[in-house]
Amino acid sequence: MVLEIKKICKNFGGLSALTDVTFTINKGEIFGLIGPNGAGKTTAIRMMTGLANLSQGDIRVCGHSIRTEFNQAIVHVGAIIENPEFYPYMTGQDNLKQYMRMSATVTKERLDTVVRLVGLQDALDKKVKAYSLGMRQRLGIAQALLHKPSLLILDEPTNGLDPAGIHEMREYLRKIASEEGVSVLISSHLLPEVEQLCGRVVVIQNGKLITIHTIGSGVSGETEAQAGKYEPITLVMRVTELNRAQEVLGSLPFIKLKSADAGQGTITIELLDTNVPEAVAALTAEQVGIYRITEMAKATLEDEFLKWTGGNRIA
Ligand SMILES: Nc1ncnc2c1ncn2[C@@H]1O[C@H](COP(=O)(O)OP(=O)(O)OP(=O)(O)O)[C@@H](O)[C@H]1O
Ligand SMILES: [Mg+2]
Repeated sequence: MVLEIKKICKNFGGLSALTDVTFTINKGEIFGLIGPNGAGKTTAIRMMTGLANLSQGDIRVCGHSIRTEFNQAIVHVGAIIENPEFYPYMTGQDNLKQYMRMSATVTKERLDTVVRLVGLQDALDKKVKAYSLGMRQRLGIAQALLHKPSLLILDEPTNGLDPAGIHEMREYLRKIASEEGVSVLISSHLLPEVEQLCGRVVVIQNGKLITIHTIGSGVSGETEAQAGKYEPITLVMRVTELNRAQEVLGSLPFIKLKSADAGQGTITIELLDTNVPEAVAALTAEQVGIYRITEMAKATLEDEFLKWTGGNRIA
């Protein structure tokens, strides 16, 4: 367990910005933190990085409490909270070296590794004032990774990046997680982004945990295997003989016929993942040919988010 958030609370005077929020992040996992404006995301991140005190609860990084063993905990954390500050008249390389001098454990070899991980090789000798937003972002992440943290925390990392920049960031965050085994916690308002990048998300609203959701399962609080087993999927099949297909599939007890489209030659059915082979075998046995099987799109993270938060828009 790389990060353990245990019943954290934060009060600002009379306001409860966070109440009893609990979740954990595993090694190499890319985890999303989402919620409407003012939900408490930045507050939670500030507490994880020692920028704000906890009113109650505890946060452990690699087993060390941020409250009672701050130094042992914080060495495992790399973070970008607001825009990282750099020396604009120095090159990217010199900025990283400057930072390297502050930490005894960072070697030149490590510097080269992180630069390669974020794909900044070609811009290293440019002055930072001439960097694009995406290059600055990479430099910030390189800097946060220099001391080999186990956990990388990014608050709104795609702010201001263009679609290509967002795409690239997704690629190198995946690389960091898979090649270095770094766990990544990212808060973002871009739900399609979060959906593509994260394996799990925690949703908070008004400082309270709403749900922990596994992306792709459609079911929260269950493992993916369980979810695939119990949650029906909707398939559209294009077949050679629609009427016959309707008869065959209609006679199978585990299938719900949803609709048929004679013009398209398609039939839409609902069934469990585990029953798909049997359905296909039944059609084949009755000489019904299948041109194609398409799964109907599931509700997007954005659809679900609006449901969870009662239509409270994210941005
Ligand atoms: N230093 C502070 N003093 C008083 N109240 C604060 C302070 N910091 C945050 N808050 C309040 O705590 C609540 C949560 O704020 P926070 O910045 O964590 O939200 P957020 O989820 O990051 O929102 P956004 O999506 O807008 O970035 C808000 O009501 C905010 O006004
Ligand atoms: Mg915020």
